[in-house]
Amino acid sequence: MNQNLLLNVVVSAVSRQTDEVSCFELSGLEGPLPVFEAGAHIDVHTAAGPRPYSLCNLHEANGPYVVGVKREAAGRGGSRWMHDTLAVGTRLVIGAPRNHFRLVPEAAHHCLLAGGIGITPLVAMARELGRRGRTFKLACFARSRAHAAFFDSLRAAPWASSVHFHFDDAPAQQVDLAAFCAGQPEGTHFYVCGPAGFLAAARRATGERPGGQVHEERFAAEPPANPKGLDRYTVVLARSGRSVRVEAGQTLLQALRGAGLNPLTSCEAGVCGSCVTPYLAGQPVHGDAFLSAHERQHQLALCCAGSLGERLVLDL
Ligand code: FES
Repeated sequence: MNQNLLLNVVVSAVSRQTDEVSCFELSGLEGPLPVFEAGAHIDVHTAAGPRPYSLCNLHEANGPYVVGVKREAAGRGGSRWMHDTLAVGTRLVIGAPRNHFRLVPEAAHHCLLAGGIGITPLVAMARELGRRGRTFKLACFARSRAHAAFFDSLRAAPWASSVHFHFDDAPAQQVDLAAFCAGQPEGTHFYVCGPAGFLAAARRATGERPGGQVHEERFAAEPPANPKGLDRYTVVLARSGRSVRVEAGQTLLQALRGAGLNPLTSCEAGVCGSCVTPYLAGQPVHGDAFLSAHERQHQLALCCAGSLGERLVLDL
């Protein structure tokens, strides 16, 4: 599938999950929407720019996409626009699904750890595992029952006994994260999504497990291991032969925009993959949260990459 494909959709349903979270069902206007797997996200082209949102339903032939969106009052504006503008019948443009957060089919057991709105990709994974009859546990951490998106549908699922809720304000309904993780059988793959503090706690709780068995979906990338790189360097655009100078205090993306380019971006935080671009020569500093070591040998995320060398050649 061409991941830069843009799709015209219409909002076909809106449902309230909590005071802050709503689900938006998006149906294709030009035939069936492309297939996706649990863990995928789409870019919704909002008035504030493209924004990545995880799909929380399962793919069905001719079926819609459903995204769960928390209204972030202090965010960059995308979620506010979604909540304040979208209604049944609104037409909009989205990107094709991308997936950096896949279930590992050969895992003996799966453990899904959701912090707050991090539930959105994990609810799709739970549904997929339930549909396949695989063994799994899902632990949902929320401030209170009123803040827990998907609470009713998870409680009503045929596999509801695999779901555990932790509410900060209800001592009788709390899950000890470390004990919960320690209780999962050998060979378990862990999938974690939530805010930075939750990811850090989950990392501590799964610290004894082999690294390849712990998978994270982040809201923002961590700073690169070597955040410095060079202050100034030259980017060569191989297809046109143009050179663009990145000056001190500028990001690579800012320099490209300053030169009149308009690369596709969405999160601008190194987590969605919209801006991934091949490079042909040079030594990039990577700041994204998803490219594998192998992919980093020939790709970088424009929004958060720097350069260790004076010259970086992009396949642009
Ligand atoms: S725009 Fe999302 S990773 Fe760069």
